[in-house]
Amino acid sequence: MFPVGRPDKEKHLNQKARAIWMTGLSGSGKSTIGLELERALYNRGYLVQLLDGDIVRTGINSNLKFSVEDRMENIRRIAEVTRLFLQCGIITIDCFISPTHEIRAMAKEIIGPADFIEVFVDASLETCENRDVKGLYAKARKGLIMDFTGISSPFEAPINPDLVLNTMEMDVETTVHKALDFILPQIILNV
Ligand code: ADX
Repeated sequence: MFPVGRPDKEKHLNQKARAIWMTGLSGSGKSTIGLELERALYNRGYLVQLLDGDIVRTGINSNLKFSVEDRMENIRRIAEVTRLFLQCGIITIDCFISPTHEIRAMAKEIIGPADFIEVFVDASLETCENRDVKGLYAKARKGLIMDFTGISSPFEAPINPDLVLNTMEMDVETTVHKALDFILPQIILNV
C-alpha cells in the first residue's frame, strides 16, 4: 500500500504548504501580524497553523529558557514540528525571535529551503523598547531578566530576507496586505 503523501494532502487542502518564518525583536509585531495574516489566509480558504514563541514556550518547550543553547533547542523543535505540519499540507506561520543567522539557518535546513519564507519584522530596538507591550524591556534594563534579546543577548538582523515588514513605517493592515501579496502566489496550487 502506498502511503498518503504530501502532494495528496496539498491537493486535498487545495494549497501548497509553506513555512512563513517571522523573525524580529520582542515587540516588533511578529505575533500581531501573524494573527492577522492567519485570519486573512483562513478567510481565503487556506488552512494555516500559527506557532508563536509565547505559546510554544508554555507547552512543548516549557523546559527551555533563553540561553544560546536553549534558544537553539527551542527553534530546532519548532522547525521539526513545522516540518510535520508541512508534510500534512498545512501552511505555518512561525513567530519566533530566532535571533541569530545560525539559528535561522538551522530552521531553514530542517524545514527545507524551498519551503522556508523568511520574513523580517523590522522595528528598531528603540521602538520596541518604547512600545514595551509586555513590560519586559524595563525589567531587562533593571537586570531582572537575563539574556534579554537586544539588551543582554544579541539580535542579528537577517541579511537577505525574502520579505521585510517594517512596523515603524506601516500599520498592521498594510503589513498584512504586503505579506499577502508576497505569499499568495506561493501557496496557490496550480494543478
Ligand atoms: S527565541 O529567541 O527562542 O526565538 P521566542 O520567540 O521563543 O525566543 O520567545 C520570545 C518571547 O519570550 C518574547 O516575546 C518574550 O515575551 C519572552 N521572553 C522572556 N524572556 C525573554 C528573553 N530573555 N529574551 C527574549 N524574549 C524573552
